[in-house]
Amino acid sequence: MTTTPGPTPESEEPARASRRRWGRGRSRLHRRVAGALAIGLGLMATAGLYTAVTADVNQAHAQAADAALLQRGQELYNTNACISCHGSNLQGVEARGPSLIGVGDAAVYFQVSSGRMPLARQEAQAMRKPTLPAFDPDTEEGQANLDALGAYIQANGGGPTRPEASGEALRGDDPARGGELFRLNCSSCHNFTGRGGALSSGKYAPNLDPASETQIYTAMLTGPQNMPKFSDRQLTPEEKEDIIAYVKSVSGSSNSVGGYDAGGIGPTAEGIVAFIFGLSAMVGIAIWLGAKA
Ligand code: HEC
Ligand code: HEC
Repeated sequence: MTTTPGPTPESEEPARASRRRWGRGRSRLHRRVAGALAIGLGLMATAGLYTAVTADVNQAHAQAADAALLQRGQELYNTNACISCHGSNLQGVEARGPSLIGVGDAAVYFQVSSGRMPLARQEAQAMRKPTLPAFDPDTEEGQANLDALGAYIQANGGGPTRPEASGEALRGDDPARGGELFRLNCSSCHNFTGRGGALSSGKYAPNLDPASETQIYTAMLTGPQNMPKFSDRQLTPEEKEDIIAYVKSVSGSSNSVGGYDAGGIGPTAEGIVAFIFGLSAMVGIAIWLGAKA
């Protein structure tokens, strides 16, 4: 006696039929799914190919733009006398100009936009002078030329670059902290309110009034001539921006707190006083000795 209730032949028939039908349905479904998958894969492959190709094209465009920018920068370098003092490979020229390898876009911006470069003649210190019209940062052409020249120097050894913001956007929102930082880091040379002062051997720290926000930032980043460099480790970008806010807040002010305004001249004032008193004293002694003899 069988205890397992097997499907009876009668009940098996419709089940098998339905399985077969389901089977046929399933294979139709399979085909549809497979078809959809194939189309999907095809689309994905096309899309992938498309993005790959366009990315390549975009990259090629970017490279072409870079190459054009560098080419333009090199032309500007060669035709604005830079090459005569800094050499054809930026390696510098003995007794004319230092190497520019690794000085970066920030140094180029500072030096050229403030008119220091191209240097007109050898002197104790490159001075701020009217910017070459081709590099005037207030014109679109000047901006484009500064960008190209900076990119060309930057491409040779890297170096610090300009901050992205410019103008008032570079002024931090804590000028009081900026003032403290200025007194700690800058006032020994530039005076408490940025009026500047004399340094040794005919050099001087200039008045900061004419400097734009970007020029103050790039001066700190690159440390022109006798000025120390303030890397982002020494003064964070936020601290630099607060210093800029402070310098701009005292810009155009006078140091005078009554009496003669000698503060802006720096140590020279006392030097001249000592010199004149000393000289008169010596002349007096000479006359006295002469009269005695
Ligand atoms: C007559 C020679 C002369 C010419 C022309 C000249 N330079 Fe200079 N350059 C110098 C000297 C000298 C210094 C160092 C100045 C100093 O320290 O005060 C200097 C410094 C620089 C610096 C700063 C380097 C640093 O270490 O931070 C840059 C950047 C620079 N020059 C770029 C240029 C560019 C760009 C041009 C062309 C537009 C140019 N120079 C034209 C002589 C020249
Ligand atoms: C050791 C002295 C010294 C210290 C400290 C110093 N500087 Fe200078 N700074 C100079 C000298 C020198 C120059 C002129 C460089 C030149 O003309 O090539 C200068 C130039 C500048 C200029 C360019 C002004 C112009 O005419 O374009 C700015 C801006 C400036 N300094 C800001 C600062 C700030 C901000 C600090 C503090 C974070 C500072 N300096 C600290 C000596 C100093």
